[in-house]
Amino acid sequence: MSRVSVDFGGLQLKNPVLTASGTFGFGVEFMDYGDLRELGGLVAKGLSLRPREGNPSPRICETACGMLNAIGIQNPGVEVFLRDYLPRLPWRETAVVANLYACTVEEFGELAALLGAEEGVAALEVNVSCPNVSEGGAAFGQDPTMIRKVSESVKSRAGDKPVWVKLSPNVSDIAACAGAAAEGGADAVSLINTITGMAVDVRTRRPRLANVVGGLSGPAIKPVALRMVHQVRQALPDLPVVGIGGIATCEDVLEFILAGASAVQVGTVNFMRPDASFLLARGLEEEMDRLGVSNLEELRGSLRLPAPKISRR
Ligand SMILES: Cc1cc2nc3c(=O)[nH]c(=O)nc-3n(C[C@H](O)[C@H](O)[C@H](O)COP(=O)(O)O)c2cc1C
Repeated sequence: MSRVSVDFGGLQLKNPVLTASGTFGFGVEFMDYGDLRELGGLVAKGLSLRPREGNPSPRICETACGMLNAIGIQNPGVEVFLRDYLPRLPWRETAVVANLYACTVEEFGELAALLGAEEGVAALEVNVSCPNVSEGGAAFGQDPTMIRKVSESVKSRAGDKPVWVKLSPNVSDIAACAGAAAEGGADAVSLINTITGMAVDVRTRRPRLANVVGGLSGPAIKPVALRMVHQVRQALPDLPVVGIGGIATCEDVLEFILAGASAVQVGTVNFMRPDASFLLARGLEEEMDRLGVSNLEELRGSLRLPAPKISRR
């Protein structure tokens, strides 16, 4: 173990810096910007059983301190990933995490069986942000019962692979959602996916996205993500958390670890600086030296909270 390696939920990573799904392609697209083996891991673009074209354009737009996207999980399907992309990734040296997207519990299970059988896949991350087509279209991720069912379905078919359930922040009780994932057998939760938002062009009087609404990401959402990591850590201290949301600097990485995250994912900043995740993985030890942090284990969850108020009658 080095001072930056992390070990949680049945997985060991050389450092806590992973890339976030949908912001780093399938990894091969970023090979000109750095050596993928420097990363703790990469989370591939969301995969469905069959290819998806995604939503009509425009499907991204810039906002203050962030961006909105409504890509709609465009992807070539799980088989193309396994045939054309996974063999090109250095999966023995860096953890390749597959991100699963489906609209029924059964489809999630099928995807888990296919990906769980692959030697090159280190863990499965389940995106529960999709509308649940077999139950009338309400988002899976907003219903703890459905989160538990999806987690069970994926875990039961994932073989020995760790399962991370990626939760939506568009809920009022994130700890209840994390608890449901843990009950379903999740080895960790990934927090957070994008926050639902909208942008308007006053000149054309149209929404900026063809889909009207989209998901907000980038530095604008970092405080929300930190708050949710903290709340889940407080409610479920034994459930590992992967922190995601607006991470752009080494200091951001350490903030999430202080709040209780075991690892982090780097997303929107990849669009500004395609080498950002490599820089963070490389720069972490120097930042730890600057802040007097000896190792990540010591930092994790050592947030100094105000003493609870004692009520006197
Ligand atoms: C363009 C784009 C595409 C995304 N696609 C996916 C996806 O396929 N699956 C998924 O779970 N999350 C997806 N996300 C969400 C990110 O993985 C991440 O959770 C979110 O953007 C917050 O992190 P950030 O602020 O660092 O970008 C996407 C985000 C963006 C910006």
